[in-house]
Parts: sequence; C-alpha cells; structure tokens
Amino acid sequence: MKKYLVIGNPIKHSLSPELHNYWIRKNDIKGLYNREELDEKDLKKFFLKIKKKEIDGVNITVPFKKAAIPYLDKLSFEAEKTQSVNTVYLKNDKIIGHNTDIDGFELAIKETNYDVRGKKVLILGAGGVVPSIIFALHKMKVSNITLSNRTKAKAENLKSLSNDLEIVDWGKVSNFDMIINATSIGLKKEDKLNLDLSKFSNSEFFYDVIYNPKETNFLKDGKMLGKKTENGKKMFIYQAAQSFKIWHGIEPLINNEVIKLLEV
Ligand code: ATR
Repeated sequence: MKKYLVIGNPIKHSLSPELHNYWIRKNDIKGLYNREELDEKDLKKFFLKIKKKEIDGVNITVPFKKAAIPYLDKLSFEAEKTQSVNTVYLKNDKIIGHNTDIDGFELAIKETNYDVRGKKVLILGAGGVVPSIIFALHKMKVSNITLSNRTKAKAENLKSLSNDLEIVDWGKVSNFDMIINATSIGLKKEDKLNLDLSKFSNSEFFYDVIYNPKETNFLKDGKMLGKKTENGKKMFIYQAAQSFKIWHGIEPLINNEVIKLLEV
C-alpha cells in the first residue's frame, strides 16, 4: 500500500485527501492519502521518512512551502525559482521538490478564457502561494505586476524572486486589468478587505485564490461591479492533478464529480 500525505499547519481544512483518494480509487491504485499537522521542528524527522521509503509522496501547504527546502536533495527549476515546494517524491534515492502551483494557476486562468497577455495585474497579499502566481503571470506574459501587502517588508522580500515587481502600500491601490486576492481575507464568510473597490472600476477580472467559501466578499463585490470573477477551485484541482501525474504517471480525470468533492 503506497502512502501519500499533505503536511501543513493547520491542516484540518485541506481537501487534498478527498481529491487524491478519489483519483486513487478510480485508477485502482493501492494507496492511501492522509493529512498530517506538523510543527516546523518536526520537518527534519518527517523528511527522513521519505528517504526511508516509508512515505511515497507529499504535498506541502502553508506554512512549509519554503521551510521544507533545506530537507530536500534537489529542486525542480520552478521550485528553485519560486523557493516554494508543494510536491515531493523520491527519485534514485534523492528527495525531489517540485512546484505544481504554477501550472495549477496557469491552467485555471487559461480555462477562464481571460487572456492575461499584456495586462496590468495587482496581487493583494504576499503569502505562500504568491511566488508561484508571480512566476506563472510572467510566463503568461503580463505587462506588469504590482503587489500590495499589509506587511510591506514581506512584499519587498518577493523582489528577490522578481525584480520588476512594483510594491505599493496596503490600501494605496489604483486601476489594474486584473486583481488577485491572495490574502487569507475571505476564508471566513464575514471577512472583508478594507479597500475601496470603487477604485477598480476599470478592472476586468477579479480572481480569488480562496475557493471555500466559493464566493468571498471580494468576488461578490467584483460581481456587483459587473466584473468577470473566478475562485481558486480550479487552481487547487489542477495543482493536485499535476502532483498525481508525477507520483502515479497518470493524468487524472477532472469532471463534475471531482469538482463536487470540493463543495463543502
Ligand atoms: P503565510 O503568510 O503564512 O504564508 P498565507 O495564508 O499564505 O500565510 O498568507 C496570508 C496573507 O494574507 C498575507 O499576505 C497576510 O498579510 P501579512 O503578510 O501582513 O500578514 C494577509 N492577511 C491576513 N490577514 C490580513 C488582514 N486582516 N489584512 C490584510 N492582510 C491580511
């Protein structure tokens, strides 16, 4: 029986086990995918278990996407560039770290049919998934990325990954073609960004990384302004599908049944 895990802290909310176990069953794979809450001090011991082949594959979520790197033997190009790992596996006795959030975001945006090429994009937040979004947006040839985060120093740190990133003070935002909420504001239904959204009257597309609840106040406001909106569900599904492909060599099916698994 192969063993897979998602690690993070907190981890209760993660729906990765539902998704992966569904695909594991559908493909008659002898395996099980669980979630495990860890503290940072447990990471070293945890990754030794991968070396000893006690675990076959790991997804990493907040807050360990960067913290796990010292315990890995090799990073993929994407993981190295973003300093962010969400997928781990053993190959020739080496622990490899890869980043499937980038492809997850790119595939999700492509599916919306919104062409980001040449567009001005604003990212709100500087948390774990933001380096991957920046990498993907550059790959998709946006014209400019501006970032705004409550803690400005965290935004400035991201400049080491992308030196043409523009940083603006939290709240001091103007017009952009696409606005991405990558903060955790919205995870609770009543959460509201303290931003004047009327400043975004010329914006076209409001995207929220959050998918549960499926419509945050940010997306509700976008809708009310008559904008295109999209939540992070497809990004989540596509990053999981890419991990699945790496571990099992199978492209898993994404259909309505899969999408329903995430409706909690
Ligand atoms: P982490 O920061 O551990 O990677 P995350 O969930 O990926 O966690 O990121 C949370 C993001 O939401 C951060 O950008 C955070 O801003 P800070 O860097 O200032 O903490 C942002 N965030 C959370 N609560 C917020 C609030 N009430 N107002 C503004 N931004 C908030």
